Amino acid sequence: MKLERILNKDNLTRDDLIYLMSLKKEEKLERLYNRAYEIKSETVGQKVYFRGIIEFSNKCIKNCNYCGIRHDNNKVNRFTMSEEEILESANWIYKNNYGSMVLQSGERTDDEYIEFVSDLVDKIKELSNGEVGITLSLGEQTKETYQKWFDLGAHRYLLRIETSNEELYRSIHPNDHDFQKRKECLKNLREIGYQVGTGVMIGLPGQTVEDLVDDMLFFKENNIDMIGMGPYVIHEDTPLVQKVGDKEKLRSRNFEWSLKMVAILRLIMPDINIAATTALQALNSIGRELALQAGANILMPIVTHPNYRQDYQLYENKPCIDEKPSDCKKCLANRVSNVGDEIVYGEWGDSPHYFRRIEGKEKELGSKIDSRNAAGR
Ligand code: 5AD
Ligand code: SF4
Repeated sequence: MKLERILNKDNLTRDDLIYLMSLKKEEKLERLYNRAYEIKSETVGQKVYFRGIIEFSNKCIKNCNYCGIRHDNNKVNRFTMSEEEILESANWIYKNNYGSMVLQSGERTDDEYIEFVSDLVDKIKELSNGEVGITLSLGEQTKETYQKWFDLGAHRYLLRIETSNEELYRSIHPNDHDFQKRKECLKNLREIGYQVGTGVMIGLPGQTVEDLVDDMLFFKENNIDMIGMGPYVIHEDTPLVQKVGDKEKLRSRNFEWSLKMVAILRLIMPDINIAATTALQALNSIGRELALQAGANILMPIVTHPNYRQDYQLYENKPCIDEKPSDCKKCLANRVSNVGDEIVYGEWGDSPHYFRRIEGKEKELGSKIDSRNAAGR
């Protein structure tokens, strides 16, 4: 049978990936998800790592056509958490043994903001005795800024390419957004020594199955260590919604495509970290569990204070808006145990892929990689 042959192959071709993305029958999809879970168990294990995410500000200078907190959406109540509030949340993450955290906000590039983030990274490292791993998700910045934050102790960076199709990228962003600049940022992050995470939105208006397959090939070509990709979810106060035809159809198609992408990516990049993203749960109440069963191994519990969650809505129907961090902790622990996975507390949870990559690089360059980044925690 064609499906079995593909699922057991070592090197899948672009056509194989298109075939898998086009599967429709329930039993075949089940087979794909089960195979991906099997591979996950053999490579990264039946384990889930937490990244507590603090969405500390919704102020943004950009105007991405899909995003609810885009600069020109004047219905949004803008906020920035105080340093004290952010450190309190970071301390909660540390005390609850999450191992790693993500600082995310809308994009800003002014000096005051850069200093604000620098102080945060420095102080979070200090309050956790260097133990909490810090991932930043703060958009496009200069190489100097990336370097500064890295030197202060941030060691992973998430910057989604959004789509690897340049034309599609142009169609979902205003003219002043630049695809080449985004790629340059990813390159700079890698050169500095960050573990680089990227990802795409799945099911954008105009996006095809071929585009999504090319996105996965882009991740592979770029030797990416971690992926956070999720369905494109409508936000009514954004321009992109004008291009959506049947909204209900888009929701179910995007959810199905997203699960398939997680599973297929696990087949072709067995040892990377793949997040079960929150947007999945905006479309299906057990979306994140299904993604764990299809090969994902990372969860990002929201640790943002409930007072601010309402105002950080990039897309409609964002889950967990009324929850406290402790509610999310309990709820996600239940969800993970329902899948049969185990949560690993107190470790950074870097992907085996990352360690293989730097080992290879060390050999290649004959150089010593910064031990901080190679450390297990
Ligand atoms: N649907 C899904 N994901 C979205 N993002 C922004 N808006 C949406 C949306 N409407 C994602 C983008 C961005 C990340 C922070 O959130 O991929 O990189
Ligand atoms: Fe700003 Fe990011 Fe939203 Fe774009 S996706 S508008 S950069 S918060």
